[in-house]
Parts: sequence; C-alpha cells; structure tokens
Amino acid sequence: MHLGRVPRRRCAFGSCRRSRDAKRDGDVGRERRRRRVGHKQRRERERRLGGDRRRRGRRFGRGASGASGSSGAPGIADAGGPSGASGTRGDAGTTAAGGADAGPIGAPTTAVYNGLRGQSFDAGWKFNLGDVTGAQSPTFNDSAWRTLDLPHDWSIELAFNQNSLSGSGGGFLDGGIGWYRKTFTLDASASGRRILVDFDGVYMNSQVWINGTSVGTRPYGYSTFEYDLTPYVKTDGSNNVIAVEVNNNQPNSRFYSGSGIYRNVWLTELGPVHVPWSGVIVSPVVSGGAATVAVTTKVENLSNASASAVVRTTIVAADGTTAASNDSAATAVAAGVTSPVQQALTVSSPQLWSVATPTLYEVTVQILIGGNVADTYATTMGIRTAAFSATTGFSLNGQGMKIQGVNMHHDLGALGSAVNYRAIERQVQILKSMGANAIRTAHNPPAPELLDITDRLGVLVLEEAFDTWEQTKTANDYGLYFTAWAQRDIQAMVERDRNHPSIILWSIGNEVGGSTTATAQNLINWVHAEDTTRAITWASNKMGGPHVSEGDDRDVAALLDVAGYNYAPYAGDYDADHSAFPTWKFIGTETSAAVRSRGIYHTPASTLTQATSQSSPDRQCSSYDNETVSFGATAESAYTYGDSRAFVSGSFVWSGFDYIGEPTPYASWPSKSSYYGAIDTAGFPKDIYYFYESRWTSDPMVHILPHWNWSSGTTVTVFVYNNCDSVELFLNNTSLGSKTMASGGALHLEWDVPWSTGTLRAACTRAGSVVTTTTVQTAGAAARVALSADRTSIAADGRDLVFVTGSIEDANGVVVPTAANAVAFSVSGPGQLVGVDNGNPIDDASYKGTSRNAFSGNVLAIVRSTETAGMITIGATASGLTAGSVAVSAGP
Ligand code: GAL
Repeated sequence: MHLGRVPRRRCAFGSCRRSRDAKRDGDVGRERRRRRVGHKQRRERERRLGGDRRRRGRRFGRGASGASGSSGAPGIADAGGPSGASGTRGDAGTTAAGGADAGPIGAPTTAVYNGLRGQSFDAGWKFNLGDVTGAQSPTFNDSAWRTLDLPHDWSIELAFNQNSLSGSGGGFLDGGIGWYRKTFTLDASASGRRILVDFDGVYMNSQVWINGTSVGTRPYGYSTFEYDLTPYVKTDGSNNVIAVEVNNNQPNSRFYSGSGIYRNVWLTELGPVHVPWSGVIVSPVVSGGAATVAVTTKVENLSNASASAVVRTTIVAADGTTAASNDSAATAVAAGVTSPVQQALTVSSPQLWSVATPTLYEVTVQILIGGNVADTYATTMGIRTAAFSATTGFSLNGQGMKIQGVNMHHDLGALGSAVNYRAIERQVQILKSMGANAIRTAHNPPAPELLDITDRLGVLVLEEAFDTWEQTKTANDYGLYFTAWAQRDIQAMVERDRNHPSIILWSIGNEVGGSTTATAQNLINWVHAEDTTRAITWASNKMGGPHVSEGDDRDVAALLDVAGYNYAPYAGDYDADHSAFPTWKFIGTETSAAVRSRGIYHTPASTLTQATSQSSPDRQCSSYDNETVSFGATAESAYTYGDSRAFVSGSFVWSGFDYIGEPTPYASWPSKSSYYGAIDTAGFPKDIYYFYESRWTSDPMVHILPHWNWSSGTTVTVFVYNNCDSVELFLNNTSLGSKTMASGGALHLEWDVPWSTGTLRAACTRAGSVVTTTTVQTAGAAARVALSADRTSIAADGRDLVFVTGSIEDANGVVVPTAANAVAFSVSGPGQLVGVDNGNPIDDASYKGTSRNAFSGNVLAIVRSTETAGMITIGATASGLTAGSVAVSAGP
C-alpha cells in the first residue's frame, strides 16, 4: 500500500518550537497511559463485580451497535419489521448536499450513560425529513425511509439556504419536521422487567410513541429525558416500533442548534427494584486528611411487594485499589415507593481533583435483595473544594486561581450538532492547550459526553440552563414553553450532572429578557432541591449600560451566589458594584466579543473598529485584535479589566471556538458562522489563540503575526505574543531590536517593519537565555497540498475520527498564507469522509462535500473509522499542485 509522504513533524498549530512539541507529545503520552490505566481499572472492576459486561451496556468503546447490527444485550435486538431491513450501518439514502457521507456520526468511546446500565440504542433507525401522517403507527411502512445510526443532525446535511427561516442566526440551515422510527424485539427474558428509553437530547419539540402509544413530548432540545416503555412493549420476540417526531420550527434559536436526535439514545432493562434515572448522588467533602463521601441512593421498588434492600457502595481509586466500601443497613422499601438510602464513606488521604491533576474515583452502587444483586449503578467522582470569595475570587482546593474560561456553543463545525465523543474531546484539548481552564456551556445543558471529558481532562464548567425565560428572543423559541417546563428542565440538568467534579457553577439563564426576582427565586429553589453543593449564577448584560432598566437584573444578582456579568465595563461596572455590595462575588460570564477571521489583517493595526455590516467589503474581520462589536472590547483590554481585579473570579471569553450561526457583524447572507472564536469552526487557531496562550500558560511561547507575504514598499505592523522577559526580532538575520513588555502597557510587542521577502524570526529570552523562537517566512507559489493528521492511529469502532489538515505549501514547504485553492479529498481503506471545512465564515459550500477551498492556506477533512481494522489513506488533490496523502491506522 502506498502510504504517501511521511508527514514532517509539525507543531500543533503552526507556532513551532521543539520544546513545546516535546511537551505536547509528553502530555499525549501521559494521557494515553492514563486511559490505558482507566480501561484496565474498569475491566478489573467488571471482573470484581462479576458483572455481565453486555448487560451493563457498552462501556468500553466497541458498542452494542456492532457489526452484527444487534443491540447486544440479552433480550433485546434490532429487527426487520414493516420497515424492511434495519440495523444496517451507514446511510442507504441520499446525501442532501454533496458526496461525503452525511450519515451516522459518532457516539461515546467512553461510557457516560446514566449509571452505565443501558445499551446503545443508536443503530438502525429509519429517518424521513418532512412531516408524515400516521408515522407513529407500528404498521406504517417506512421501507422507503433512509436508514441511519444516531446521533444525527439533519440540518448540517442540507445546503445553506439564503431564504432559510433560521436566518443568519441559525447559519442559514433549515430546520423543519423530521421523523425517526426504530423496530426492535424483546424476548421473554425481558418479561417482567422495566424497559426504559433515554434520549440524551432531541432538538426540539419531540414526541415519542411506542407501538402507537404516545409516551411523552419534550419541547426543550437540550434536556435529557427518559420514558418507561414497560406497559407498551411486547416481549414475545415480535416487533416493537418506537417513533419520534421532531419539530424544529424555525426560527427558535439565536445560534445554530442542529435538528433531530442529535445525541445518543439508550435502552435500559432493569429489574423491578432498581436505582431510577440519575438516582445516585455523590457528595464528597474534604476535611483534614480525609474526604467524607455522602452517597444517597434512591431505591425504587416497582414490584408488588415490599423489598428489603441493602445498598453496597464501593469507591475505587485511580490505581484500582478500593478506597472505601460500605453496606447500608437493610431498608424496607414498600411496593410502589422510592426510598433514599444514605451512606457516608471515608476516603483517607484523598487524591484531589484539579485542573492539573484531574483524579477521578469510580463509585459503584449495588442494590442487594436477599443477597442478590438487583441493580448496579456506576458513577465517577472527583474530590475537590470549589469556593468563591467576595474579595479573593475563585479557589479550587483552597488555592486561589483565576478562571480562564471560554464560552462554547455545542456545534462541532462540519459535524453540526451530531454528538461525537472524539470531536468534543478535540475541542476541549485545543482549548486546554490554549491555556483555558474553564468552559461555559452557552446557553444550554451540553451533551453528557462533554462533562465526561471535562472531568477527565481537568476543565472547569459553568453549566447553563437557558437562553430565555418567559420572554422569547426568537419567534418559536423555548420562551414559549418556559413557564410550563422550566422546573422539569432545570432539574433534569442538575439531576443528570451533579456528580461531575468539573462543574463548579450552575447558571439559571443568559441575558434573559424581562427578568423577575420571582422567576429567579423559583429557579434557584429548583436547583437547590437537587443540589446545594454548588454556587448558582447567571449571565446578565443589564448590570449597567443601555439596557439596565429592562429587567430586575440587579435585584436578581443579589439573590445569586455569584453575580455573572456579560460585557463589563460596557454593561456593568465591577468596581462600583464591588464597593456598593461588598459581599457580592463577581465573574465575567461573557467578555471581549472581539471579531476576527483567521489569517486576515485589516490595517492600520492601531485603528480600533467597532465593526458593522458595512465595515469591510470582504466581510471578514481583522486578526490584529482591532475589531470588536459595539458592546465588545479587544481581547487585550477585556483581559486586563478582568484579570487586574483580585475580587473577580475570572472570565469566560466570547468565544472559544467559532460556531455556526450568529455571524455578527455580517449578519446576512452569505456569512453563516461566527467571527468571535479564538479558534475557527475547523479547529484552526486564529492569532488571538496565541494571545490567550501567552497570558494563560507559563511554558515559554512566542508567536508572530501577520504572515510574511506582502509587497515591496509596505511597512508591516508586526505583533509578537509572548510570555518572555524580552523578545528580539530579526528580519533575514538582521536584528530589529529587542523589546520588553511595559508593565501596564500593551500585552503584545510591536514593530513596524519595512517588508522584504524572507524570514522574520522572534527569539524569546528568559533570564538572559533564548528559550524558544518562532519564524514566519515568505511563501512562494503554491506547489503542493500537504496533509497532516491529528493522530496516527484511531479506533476501528465506527465512531472514532481523524482530523486531517490540508495545507497549501510552496516548493519549500512554507504554507501559502493567502491560498484558497480548491482541494478534493479521497479516502481509501476502512474510513469515511464525514465533513470538510476551512473556517471561512462566508464560505457556503456544504460541510458534507468532498472538496473545499482552502482558506488562508488551510483546509480540513474529517474521516471516521469503520468497524474494520486497517490502514486508512486520505488523499488530497488540487489543480496544478502536487497531490498529498496521509495514512492513519485503524485498530482495535
Ligand atoms: C451576548 C450573548 C451571546 C452572544 C454574544 C455575542 O450578548 O449572550 O449569546 O450573542 O452576545 O454576540
């Protein structure tokens, strides 16, 4: 097999230093080792518990949606029904907008499901875009429908539509009505057991039927919900049909939501006495050299007789040793009743969870009836103390630290909203390498996979419930349902997620219109009913500024544990409020809102523009940190404002990644994705990524902007982001002088350099020695497409992804920074192209095509493994250029 050119070693994001490469490799190596240990630990635990791995569901990567198409657990199987063949992997139907497979994308490679008792119910659904009469009926003939696996987002598969009701806010991608159906059988072993289906999230207005009977509706597209199918299912091996209608009637969001069953679905079979959904609550408290872990286990008895239950709880440390275990006293649980059983376990010398060392424990709870295991529920736990102070800000485990956060919407670029564990993990890894230590889930509960990842990688989370309360922001949004559903939705969020150590704050809303203290107090009470261990905040843009009188925001702030400010000092004043309310705790829930496009520079760099839709005919924004929206601030000034006040816990920058929709300031066709990100939708860092890295990380780093392809006679303003004592700049080895950042001055170094072709080099000095350098170099004519993959091997599980960067290079391997060549991708071997992107906010080519124009020299292909091991070769061609290829192995 031709493996193509061996990719040269590259720095992760183009700013090259050998030392940093080595460090990153070290991090990855450590992470791999940690994961291996984690797997070993889990296998060991399974062995100890004597469990049936299949019954507890897919836990170890290879899932129930295996090659056989069978759902994997005893008693439950996919079936061919009236729908014809089901359970086939992949998409038998058409792809709306181009050649890349728009079918199933991903599922967790790590278990995140409620208690680990379920099995994946993602495989072999039938799908129809558009409304259909009678599709809930079990006898409905869906044989003409497309077959796919979940998670699935139909909007991302569509062509961008200038006239879409979603508008620019929704990224010009249509919503509409879609139907899903799945046919499955249960054999006699399921008789007498509870059969539950769990949807991690369906966007939005879903209604679910089982065998023609409606079991419920859920308006909110970000809530996890469960239905008890027991009374309606057949356990004689004949067909059961579950049908789901989704109505994503646009417009209903200010940003791209995605459409359909875009998160994972699980089927769980339980005995009559069991732990209900999210029914184990783990609350560790550290004191002295030990942690006391309060474990509350809800025991639900749906049998006809009282049951005497013993709860056995075991806490296993990261090294596989048992840290604590306890058997409760026998508790009589009456028929039809759910009783909480409380236990207190002591973990001595606990290993604390932190962003640097995110140590996790595994907690396994068994319900024993007459000595037999009736149910087993597993959850992870991290032992840490998170506290907010009105004078010193945030501390973790008693150590003060600034929250260096970013706001993230939930889309995954070219994959849309269809949840994929690896795609989320990659986002978090990129953010972490920028130095971010926190994510705010703007403006809704995330997929559970995100929280599994933030727990595992050590990233703090502010989890937010809503973007609206009673007052809508778009015609058909959640504001219509808030009054009836808010309690269920916010409690579903807290119940599902309260065991995650990474979550340090709950947010009851973002910039809600018409806020009242009455609603705020209700929301606070509902959160407290489920969790009193975490602080509660929200995000207000009316703590000052032009909208201050539009709601009760200042009174609501007084009710909260932490006052969240969006866009201070424009819309609120930390200092004035700190003086007036010395007990308030402050956090910047949104800061900056500067706009930029990767590799685009608007000059003069010193001119600060409040960008409007008329600002620039190219509809791009500038990477000199010199464009903001009307209420925004440059990254540098926003950073200084938040960082220089000890009483402020930190900031969440708007935004970490670009997201689909809300292309402010160009909120009209053809702009379809945001300009706010430090990282574009493809995952390519913009220059401002390095600004944050320079502030948020301590290993020596230096980054030069702009690129070095200009014309003679141009004087180029050069910015150097760095965390050095001083930086010396050289053009073609001639020194342009050494500079040091002045205290209280700009947070970058700057030179005006008369351009000439060649190499600009920045040398970063600490304590008199050069510790790292970087260069930018003039590129010649485009000569080839070079491909590099983010990993050399991936799992052959039909879910794992490799992200392949295509760079347009000159004959010497220098990236041509202005290149926009059309690049066509091909994949051979056991892999499928599932998305292409370039991060260009105004490019309306389909994310599901097989080719894409480069933007500022780069283009991305996302390739998913199949369930076959082997070598995947990704090829790229561009007219007139030497083709590139890269090989990645897919293995067990
Ligand atoms: C805020 C809002 C965010 C986003 C941001 C940038 O006001 O909360 O969702 O719209 O502005 O435009």
